[in-house]
Amino acid sequence: MRIDAITIFPDYFAPMQLSLLGKAQDGGLLSINVHDLRAQTSDVHHTVDDAPYGGGAGMVMVADVWGKAIDSVIEDDADLIILTPAGRRFNQEMAQELSAAKQLIFACGRYEGIDDRVRIHYSQPEYQARNIRVREVSIGDYVLGGGEVASMVMIEAITRLIPRVLGNPLSLAEESHNEEGYLEYPNFTRPQQWRGLEVPPILLSGNHGAIATWRSSQAEERKNANSN
Ligand code: 6GU
Repeated sequence: MRIDAITIFPDYFAPMQLSLLGKAQDGGLLSINVHDLRAQTSDVHHTVDDAPYGGGAGMVMVADVWGKAIDSVIEDDADLIILTPAGRRFNQEMAQELSAAKQLIFACGRYEGIDDRVRIHYSQPEYQARNIRVREVSIGDYVLGGGEVASMVMIEAITRLIPRVLGNPLSLAEESHNEEGYLEYPNFTRPQQWRGLEVPPILLSGNHGAIATWRSSQAEERKNANSN
């Protein structure tokens, strides 16, 4: 998979070289390319934003700079993801779907967002014919300063689903057994007693059937306790 992130703060993406993601890139399974949006400006001030037509607070990122930046990376069969709190909510199902993508382009908006003609332009039939899809995505109901952190959340969730990127494929298999993929039972390891707290005795019983039953009821209980 090829990932291109376009941002005015490339340094935000430094952690993408660490841990599993760094290893996956060394192994050639993945390439993560970060691009400075300001490299596409041609004025002395490297301007990326302007006042909104119709008035109102804040600034809007200009279409032309974004168009140049996207044109410089986009290939056929790409998914262009525009990060905005007004987008469709990211979830495990979307992560699963995007883990099969050939190229993911993350357009990290700041300020009041990107001129909407960028979304409209890359949704035109000429791009559809090249199997290019555009989507606006949000990671949750809160407002961040920009799309950088949101896109890193998405990158981490998506790339760990690519075969051979995650260290242990069994952890993925077990995840897919429980329907939501991320609602799990509580875990314990040594020591058997810690600060007066015992490991649930069933886990020491060696009865794998009983352990599986206990774990699913615990997962259910945890899910209910954490449902808003
Ligand atoms: Cl994708 N962007 C911003 N700015 N805020 C968000 C978000 C994205 N998702 C949730 N909040």
